[in-house]
Amino acid sequence: MDLKEKVRIIEDFPFAGISFKDITPLLSDPDVYVETINQLEKVVQNLDEKPDIIVAPESRGFFFGIPLSFKMGIGFAPARKPGKLPCEVVSQEYTLEYGTNSIEMHKDAISPGTKVLIVDDLIATGGTLLATAQLVEKMGGDIVGMIAVIELTDIGGLEKLKKYNPTALISYPY
Ligand code: PRP
Ligand code: MG
Repeated sequence: MDLKEKVRIIEDFPFAGISFKDITPLLSDPDVYVETINQLEKVVQNLDEKPDIIVAPESRGFFFGIPLSFKMGIGFAPARKPGKLPCEVVSQEYTLEYGTNSIEMHKDAISPGTKVLIVDDLIATGGTLLATAQLVEKMGGDIVGMIAVIELTDIGGLEKLKKYNPTALISYPY
C-alpha cells in the first residue's frame, strides 16, 4: 500500500505558503492505520537493537507511538506539553519559527540504559524530535531509533537529527 496516496495535502494551512500534510486519513481507515503501524514496525525490525520502550511527543506522536508499542509488546512513555504531567518532570526547550516551546517527561519514565525508540508523525525543522531526544538523554536513556511517518526534506530537520539516524516512511520536499 502506498501511504503517500492516503496523506491529504492542504495548501496554505495554517499559514499562507505552508503545504500541510494531514495524516488523519491514515487513522480513520482501519486497514490503512494497521498498514501504517506495520510499515513502522518493519523499520524497527531493521534496527541494530530492540527497544525497551517507545517515547513520542504529544499530540500526533501518540497516534503512531502508542499502537506501535502495543504491536511490539513494549511500553510507552509520553513527552507532553508543559504543565500536564503531575509528578516531577524533566523539561527541554526548543525553538519554533517565532519563539520557543518546551516538552516534559516524568523524571522516572526512563531509567539509565533503557533502550528507547522515538516516534512522531512528522519531521520538519526537527526541533520537536531533537528536544524529545535530549529529554531521553537527560534521563540516561539510550536512543536506538527515531522514526516518523513523514519527513520534509530541504528544511534542515534531517541534518539536525542525523546523529540519531532518523527514518521516515514518506518524504516530501518542503
Ligand atoms: C507537529 C508535528 C511534529 C512537529 C514537526 O507537532 O506533529 O511533532 O510539528 O515539526 P518540527 O520538526 O519542526 O518540530 P505540533 O507541535 O504542531 O503539535 P501536535 O503534534 O500537538 O499537533
Ligand atoms: Mg507533534
